[in-house]
Amino acid sequence: MSREGRLAGRTAIVTGASRGIGLAAAVALHDAGANVVLTSRTEEAATSAAASVGERALGVQAHATDDDAARACVARTMETFGSVDILVNNAGTNPAYGPLLSQDHGRFAKTMDVNLWAPLLWTQLAVEAWMGEHGGSIVNTASLGGIVVAPDLGIYHVSKAALIHLTKQLAIEVGPGIRVNAVAPGVVRTRLAEALWKDHEEAVAQRTPLGRIGEPADVGSAIAFLASDDSSWITGETIVIDGGQMIGATAAADSATIAVGAG
Ligand SMILES: NC(=O)c1ccc[n+]([C@@H]2O[C@H](COP(=O)([O-])OP(=O)(O)OC[C@H]3O[C@@H](n4cnc5c(N)ncnc54)[C@H](OP(=O)(O)O)[C@@H]3O)[C@@H](O)[C@H]2O)c1
Repeated sequence: MSREGRLAGRTAIVTGASRGIGLAAAVALHDAGANVVLTSRTEEAATSAAASVGERALGVQAHATDDDAARACVARTMETFGSVDILVNNAGTNPAYGPLLSQDHGRFAKTMDVNLWAPLLWTQLAVEAWMGEHGGSIVNTASLGGIVVAPDLGIYHVSKAALIHLTKQLAIEVGPGIRVNAVAPGVVRTRLAEALWKDHEEAVAQRTPLGRIGEPADVGSAIAFLASDDSSWITGETIVIDGGQMIGATAAADSATIAVGAG
């Protein structure tokens, strides 16, 4: 079988797929031959994203934390395509910007609900509907911020650090039939991350060893790799996809230390 068809006959659900990384993941999975269900908070965005992906794509409205909508989406996927072999828990949010000490419970709870509870909810439903008996692959969209710390993004970063740990916990619970992995993107050109690149893209690119910010497709292809049998001996793992931003930041910090030490 050609590599293009390596996901032929499989079905993927991608949450938060109307644009950005989720849409790019849906395109990569579809290009590899999978049927793809794309979710969004609105029917219109889900449907038009699915139409842009191709004929084996279906758009479904489902807020990631809405239990009934999630259950209905999984049921509709089973009715339409007959399986749920791949789940990409991609929907994410960041309503809480600023110091941790100034945050309130509402913003904390919303971030944890969407970024942490929803991946567990959708995993439970996919395992119950199909994967528990037939196996599957789950990919969670975490963040570089779940590995490193940075000011003003504390709640979001804590939620993504917990998602990385959830990925490991789930991997030991659902193996060997089901693999669970995560991606940890650096700064990628999407709406959610606009504040991190929009007015200073060149400066971010300069701190990035590969010389540019990320594009959604850079992450989408890694998600398709983790969803496919090409990664069949990888589970509980988080792959950093950041053009080298993490090591670039470390190098910059080291230079500053050396400069201070030398001075
Ligand atoms: N861009 C980056 O630099 C970056 C870096 C690290 C991690 N990430 C992570 O990547 C993931 C995707 O974000 P993105 O950067 O691609 O952002 P984006 O372009 O703004 O896309 C976010 C997607 O999530 C959907 N969405 C948001 N809240 C949702 C909810 N409660 N239920 C269902 N869908 C929801 C949006 O759809 P609707 O608005 O149509 O509902 C949209 O399709 C997130 O988990 C984010 O934390 C991004």
